[in-house]
Amino acid sequence: MTEAKQQSIAEFSSKTAQATYRTAAEAGLWLSEVKVIEDYFPKKGIILDIGCGTGRTTFPLLKKKYAVVAIDIVPSMITIAREIAEVKKIQANFSVGEATSLQFSSNMFDAALFSFNGWEQIPGRQNREKALRETIRVLKHGGIYVFTTHKRTLNIRWIQRWFSFYIGAKLFGIKKEACDYGDVFFTRKGANPHEPQQFIHIASVRDTRKTLKKVGFDILKVAMATELGDNEHEYPMAFYICRKPLQ
Ligand SMILES: C[S@@+](CC[C@H](N)C(=O)[O-])C[C@H]1O[C@@H](n2cnc3c(N)ncnc32)[C@H](O)[C@@H]1O
Repeated sequence: MTEAKQQSIAEFSSKTAQATYRTAAEAGLWLSEVKVIEDYFPKKGIILDIGCGTGRTTFPLLKKKYAVVAIDIVPSMITIAREIAEVKKIQANFSVGEATSLQFSSNMFDAALFSFNGWEQIPGRQNREKALRETIRVLKHGGIYVFTTHKRTLNIRWIQRWFSFYIGAKLFGIKKEACDYGDVFFTRKGANPHEPQQFIHIASVRDTRKTLKKVGFDILKVAMATELGDNEHEYPMAFYICRKPLQ
């Protein structure tokens, strides 16, 4: 396992992250997610909830009578999700799983979800692309995939990072796996200094669209959360609504 991936798993396993996501599970679906699910998901069927965390999206989908298979790469997230399900007496299917190598047969799911920018937390451009390839593989033809990202735009912070990226990585070859333009390490709000930093790739809509097309998705819509009536987020968040082609 690569260093960046190990760090990402360690961060999500930290006490602060666990406490944050235990509370997050209670938050339920965002307004934007409710809208997208109502408008684009089939009315019934089997949904793959990738990077489910502690079940923030899983439990409401179950309440809507979908069959939900929920996976997360971090074992302690799954442990908490199962505990919550037990306390609430909800029958749920949570298991440890990796988005870049899904443990499911092809053409199995009616829809899939990778909520709250989880896809951006996969280090390495090729791995993010691999996760999309895996998702399209396990979706039925016509199946819907919804995920979110940040929206990277050109500003002074990114111009500075662009320079250090190109000088370090491109000119001097200091290119680690977690060193794509757009990669950031940061400390989670409320984390202790000894806890690992969080990894995220701040994606641009242009790049993400390109990758989606490359792996074969039809892009039905890209919309900002605010366009979906959701003003609850601290930063601009883009929703991608995609479909596996019918044939
Ligand atoms: C920002 S959290 C969101 C959790 C949950 N979906 C929510 O909205 O509360 C992202 C989740 O994606 C998971 N994740 C990151 N990389 C993953 C991967 N390669 N495969 C599966 N899960 C992954 C993390 O462990 C984390 O639980």
